[in-house]
Amino acid sequence: MLEHDVLVIGAGLAGMRAAIAASANGANTAIISKVHPVRSHSNAAQGGINAALLDRGDDWEDHAYDTIKGSDFLGDQDAIEVMCSSAGRALIDMEHMGVTFNRDDEGKLGTRAFGGQRRARTFYVGDFTGQALLHVMFEQLIKSGVRSYEEWFVTSLIEEEGQVAGVIALEIRTGQLHAIRAKTVIFCTGGCGRLFEPSTNALIVTGDGMALAYNAGAGLMDMEMVQYHPTTLAGSGVLLSEAARGEGAYLRDKDGNRFMERYAPNMMELASRDVVSRAEQTEINAGNGVNGCVFLDCTHLGEALIMEKLSQIREIGIDLAGVDMVREPVPIRPGMHYIMGGIKTDIDGLTSIPGVYAAGECANVSVHGGNRLGANSLLDTIVFGERSGNHAANACRSLNFVDFDEHEVVAREEGRIRDMLERPDNGDRWGAIRQAMGESMVSNVAVFRDEQTIGEAIRDLEGLRERYARVPVQNKNRVFNTDLIFALELGYMLDVADTIAFSALERKESRGANSRTDFPERDDENWLKHIVAKKGEVGPELSYLPVTITKWQPEERKY
Ligand code: FUM
Repeated sequence: MLEHDVLVIGAGLAGMRAAIAASANGANTAIISKVHPVRSHSNAAQGGINAALLDRGDDWEDHAYDTIKGSDFLGDQDAIEVMCSSAGRALIDMEHMGVTFNRDDEGKLGTRAFGGQRRARTFYVGDFTGQALLHVMFEQLIKSGVRSYEEWFVTSLIEEEGQVAGVIALEIRTGQLHAIRAKTVIFCTGGCGRLFEPSTNALIVTGDGMALAYNAGAGLMDMEMVQYHPTTLAGSGVLLSEAARGEGAYLRDKDGNRFMERYAPNMMELASRDVVSRAEQTEINAGNGVNGCVFLDCTHLGEALIMEKLSQIREIGIDLAGVDMVREPVPIRPGMHYIMGGIKTDIDGLTSIPGVYAAGECANVSVHGGNRLGANSLLDTIVFGERSGNHAANACRSLNFVDFDEHEVVAREEGRIRDMLERPDNGDRWGAIRQAMGESMVSNVAVFRDEQTIGEAIRDLEGLRERYARVPVQNKNRVFNTDLIFALELGYMLDVADTIAFSALERKESRGANSRTDFPERDDENWLKHIVAKKGEVGPELSYLPVTITKWQPEERKY
């Protein structure tokens, strides 16, 4: 049987960083991913990565405070301290690995401003920072000699005696199922953006790891905290980086007014994302937009700056909306971008299931709370990817492989897949169910939400789940059967969508990205706590965990 000490699921930045760390610590490590590593969604991160460098007069505690305030005081401060105090070293490590960050006029690593931060501490490579980091990390992965199962799709976690024993995975090229034994498993499977339509996320971002961990008994924490990015392109919803506003772009209404003056007079367009998205949505709802959009105005920045620092988003605007940002404002609106919630972990990535770790967007070590600061997600991936890889490798020294009956677990999974393939064609399609789910989530668990809209999403999900149980898979072949993969993904998506909707219904206050029009105030007395969703008999069962506060007391949040 295939066998590894550390098996990392997902080969984006968090996954590759975890695998490289585990391997460097002497563990027999493998990485498994449903796509080739450099096709991972980390590719899509545009604007940069935050770090407070002492030689710039910056201080990691200032970064920590901005992050905590950005989180609307829901982030766990011990975890935030770990992330922010590790950021400088993590950034320089990336530079030494070969990332060619933009430089300033003195030749030092250059910074740009990003939202919710009082200092420019975002390091960047044009407007394709994630892609630059991902490719360099892939070179390091190859150098490390870690075994890579590319285009293998994990369908189940194997647990025995309360301990992880391995996974079952579908080799997409052949359609064959394999059991892989592992002492530890690290989920680095990214977020769940495509539960919402449209979304800035790649089509592959379907919450698989979150659902696998949830179905195995792990808790998903803060799932109501869904980030709507303020600048997504009209129509397609593709990301136009916050870097544009960091470089000085304005947001304008249909009459050209910079409406952020009224919402965040100090930080203006660079208030935190939840604040800016709410401002935009308020203006759009009041009829101050055009076709459901307001405008991102870069025209005063000049072609030279745009070509040097924002060339990718300029192309996106031209190709997908026929608008050249050098010459005219681009129609934008808030769009689903990120989930702050995820598999609950400690600061070393360990979940409540022995041997199971998580890092990156699928995890919730609790550094983002109610709202993530832009450019803290790349940082999160490499800091906590590395920590979980190190911790898992060390843990393996005292762990034994857990036995299981390979034939039996594979046969059980084979039966589940055969059932799906043999369903009669009832005319329904997984694509239709996925689209209906995405549209319901976007309109009902939106920038603004209330009991009635969330209830509607829950009812929609219930109906879609019934359809899902009967949906046919048209392609009966086993070789590269993407029809089957997409159908399997949809099951995971529905599980995760439930946890989002039920958690959003539960939180009866407005905090961070959970803006409840029926409970418009933040209520620290009753709701300064995390909501954790665990799988119950008939749906998510919710419980609470306290927020860890080290030294920054909750205060009113103004920008
Ligand atoms: O706007 C952006 O470039 C996105 C960055 C992020 O989400 O961290």
